[in-house]
Amino acid sequence: MSNRILSGLQIEGSKLISVRKLAKEHAISPVTVMKAYELLEQDGLIYRIHGKGSFVRFRTKTKEQDTTTQTNPYSWQESHKDYLNRVQFSNPIRIPSFENGYDLSNASINPNLLPTEKIISTFSETLRRDIPILSEYGQPEGDPEFRQALSNYFKRIGLKTNYDQIIVTNGGQQGLHLVASTFIGKNDVVFVEAPTYPGAIDIFTSRGARIIPIPMDENGLKVDELYALCDKYKPKLIYTIPCFNNPTGYCLSKQRKKILLDLAESYDFIIVEDDAWGELNYDDCHRIALKSLDRTGRVIFIKGFSKVIGPTYRLGAIVAEGSFLHRLALNKSNSDLGSPLLIQRLLMPFFSSNNIDTYIDELRKKLKAKLMLVDRILQQHAPPQLRWTLPKGGLNIWLKMPRGYSSDRLFIDYLQEEKISILPGSMFFTDNNMSNCFRITFSYLDDVDLQFAVKRLCECVTAFVDRSNN
Ligand SMILES: Cc1ncc(COP(=O)(O)O)c(C=O)c1O
Repeated sequence: MSNRILSGLQIEGSKLISVRKLAKEHAISPVTVMKAYELLEQDGLIYRIHGKGSFVRFRTKTKEQDTTTQTNPYSWQESHKDYLNRVQFSNPIRIPSFENGYDLSNASINPNLLPTEKIISTFSETLRRDIPILSEYGQPEGDPEFRQALSNYFKRIGLKTNYDQIIVTNGGQQGLHLVASTFIGKNDVVFVEAPTYPGAIDIFTSRGARIIPIPMDENGLKVDELYALCDKYKPKLIYTIPCFNNPTGYCLSKQRKKILLDLAESYDFIIVEDDAWGELNYDDCHRIALKSLDRTGRVIFIKGFSKVIGPTYRLGAIVAEGSFLHRLALNKSNSDLGSPLLIQRLLMPFFSSNNIDTYIDELRKKLKAKLMLVDRILQQHAPPQLRWTLPKGGLNIWLKMPRGYSSDRLFIDYLQEEKISILPGSMFFTDNNMSNCFRITFSYLDDVDLQFAVKRLCECVTAFVDRSNN
């Protein structure tokens, strides 16, 4: 319930289901429900009006305003159950939209650094040549020529894949959704890195999965802890971001990749590799995909291109083999009959030329400069209680305040007024753990705004820590 309220799924001011009804629905005692409601009230998520019931608290209003119940013409809809347990991206507190604010939460690349001009310069010519595609459905798996271009592109990360092992998707997000809706059902056990991408937690949660967090260190998943956990939980699937985990930026070492593959064979689970930003490394180390070491078709590779060429194309891909590939392709066809051919044709020239390599090389240099700029400002202005490790790639920095300090509070009490958005640590865990941490993105703002926002952020953290110490 707390997840639903924080996600904005349970509308502010709406009445919670009665204690007796909820107890009956879940076959638990009314006392347990009462205790849960008390906890929600203590966490400031609901308020109770004697004789009327419990209501979702208005986060933007005072306590007094809360209790003046508003009339909602759609309140009848509340009695229709949904199966969305957690949708973090609709949370108005966690993903605010400020006019003229400083967005340190959006893990995207600044529009001026994107290859948009290069991509659209060939558009009308390509379109004129391919006019028939405007009247075609095409194959649900995607345009064969474009898939061939992707197959060549994937060689850079060690993937030797045929075009017909690739399904074009609407972003990495759809890839995740297809995998979860194909393979995960109620009570299936899914292992995830702790912390991990909130969108993946939400997708697996909505399938009714039992999500078990696996600890990480700077070399990625702690594979040595996996043996005991596999014995205990019998996972169906493990979801990993081996190259620059979101939010920490950690990478799974080659040695651990091999151990993970062996474990998957021994315990018969599926590995889902999410590669959202593998191209964006700032050291000279050449990283290969976990999938490139897979000899038996255990790894389903999910690629998203939003972090490299921009989110607007909604372009992604799945690489798999055998019946996994077949089942995912059928699900893709059920979902949308295929991603837009127009986008695939639009991007084809860019993906099939050297332009993409030149662009990525330049992008890496520019992003590294931004990362170093943020690091310098943090070094100069951050209070000693604020810690971070410089990532070797990706678009994010994961910062830690001492335990007991909540980044949600930091945002509500300080950053909100400054119109600075961050992503609070609790979003990246299944159990609201590590709320003392938060993520900032260094790639989205231009350098002037970035310097200002990070300096101001440091000042806010200093004030927050000082207040808590006094
Ligand atoms: C790890 C990870 N996977 C997948 C996605 C979804 O990206 P998209 O659907 O835009 O490719 C994101 C977005 O932030 C992400 O961070």
